[in-house]
Amino acid sequence: MNRDMFTIAICCLLVAPTLAGELPAPIKRSALASSPVPPPPANPTNRVADDPAARQFGQALFFDPNLSSNKEVSCATCHDPALGFADGKPLAEGLKTGSINTPTVLGTAHHRWLFLDGRADTLWSQALGPIESDLEMGGARTDVVRYLAATPKLAEAYAAVFGPLPDVSNQQRFPDGARPGTPQWESMAEQDRASITQAYANLGKAIEAYERQLEPGESNFDRWVASIRSGTRDDAIMTGAAIRGFALFAGDAGCMQCHFGPMLSDLEFHDLGLPPSDPAAAPMPGRGAGFPLLRASEFRADGPWSDAPKSTKARRAASARIGPEHWGSFRTPSLRNVAATAPYMHSGQFARISDVLRFYNTLEGQVRRHHHAEAVLVPLELNASQLLDIEAFLDSLTGDRPPNSLCVPPEGFGIPKP
Ligand code: HEC
Ligand code: HEC
Repeated sequence: MNRDMFTIAICCLLVAPTLAGELPAPIKRSALASSPVPPPPANPTNRVADDPAARQFGQALFFDPNLSSNKEVSCATCHDPALGFADGKPLAEGLKTGSINTPTVLGTAHHRWLFLDGRADTLWSQALGPIESDLEMGGARTDVVRYLAATPKLAEAYAAVFGPLPDVSNQQRFPDGARPGTPQWESMAEQDRASITQAYANLGKAIEAYERQLEPGESNFDRWVASIRSGTRDDAIMTGAAIRGFALFAGDAGCMQCHFGPMLSDLEFHDLGLPPSDPAAAPMPGRGAGFPLLRASEFRADGPWSDAPKSTKARRAASARIGPEHWGSFRTPSLRNVAATAPYMHSGQFARISDVLRFYNTLEGQVRRHHHAEAVLVPLELNASQLLDIEAFLDSLTGDRPPNSLCVPPEGFGIPKP
């Protein structure tokens, strides 16, 4: 190596580790647009969304395994605070093993559509799904209301927020195991079904009030962006690799076509053509099935159990449309706290972030299920150190955990810690 080449090599080494000097304007703009996470948008369809008593009651429900048919599965079984409010497993395991990877609850109040196929349009209606799902908790709304009625602390907490529980003591009128689709449910009078469903919807609303407090938490990325905003950019908050990774993410790697804004998600649906985790299983329709389910849901934001069915927020489901290109698509996940919620993708296809990045880099194994599928992705062909840089950026999105008081069952309800 002659002296000039040596000098150039040293200069490169000095420049490469950080993006020294001014950040390129588009990168700076992208950084400012990605942080901080604002408070979650208001939800007028739930009048107790920000009510302190509802929050505490909802937290008790979240940790209570007695809502499930075998009294062993709570929301926290799969959304474990110690595992980033997910479960660390490829596929969720409740009463049975499901076909979907458990997403985190952190930051979900920012989503427009809930579930990876968007079959719910509010957090309160989302919460009502797992309780009555045979894969997850296997419960039934009459049983859940009867359990609350028999548990003084919970009955009091319910009454303080919503007024007294319906009287379900008459077993004939309110049979055990009654939920839509069961013969018990068919046997019930219309008005009894309505009073039970109202109480059931209220439980979802209390759970949402709790979940709305589970924010992604401030991360090193946020602290770095705050330093840029204040004009005293402090690169020591991130690593050089993470800053280079962000520049790639926001620039050449094209990640921000879908992962943008404070949640690093467009909140909409795409089909990446991921290889199925079980090649023998039928392909999953994603939004193609989720949208008709949303349309048919009795708990829609513009439905009978909503507190503001005519609000702009509530009318979204009625005005949304899907096309053939949505078949097989899943909602773009938020990348906040992504390092804490392995494995990845809707069926837990990838064990590590490096596996996700390898997929984007090569598109190896990509399945084009139909000619409408997403055409945005092209193999990135980045080198190994660039991939590590992107991974370092994704690591910098891990936020401070919610306060401990939100990570355990609330005091006074006698609910054991999971
Ligand atoms: C057996 C494990 C399991 C249990 C129990 C469970 N969940 Fe989930 N949760 C999942 C899975 C899997 C998904 C994704 C399902 C899908 O998209 O089809 C999910 C999705 C969610 C979402 C939406 C996340 C998003 O990004 O859209 C929220 C919020 C949530 N669950 C809260 C709850 C609450 C509240 C309870 C209790 C009432 C609960 N979960 C019980 C596994 C579970
Ligand atoms: C065309 C839109 C699109 C682009 C471009 C895109 N993503 Fe994604 N990303 C998605 C969708 C949709 C999913 C979820 C797919 C699924 O589960 O079916 C996803 C999933 C992920 C996940 C897994 C998250 C989890 O919790 O499971 C990571 C990590 C990720 N993307 C990072 C990136 C990076 C880094 C780039 C750029 C190299 C990128 N994405 C480009 C749409 C996109």
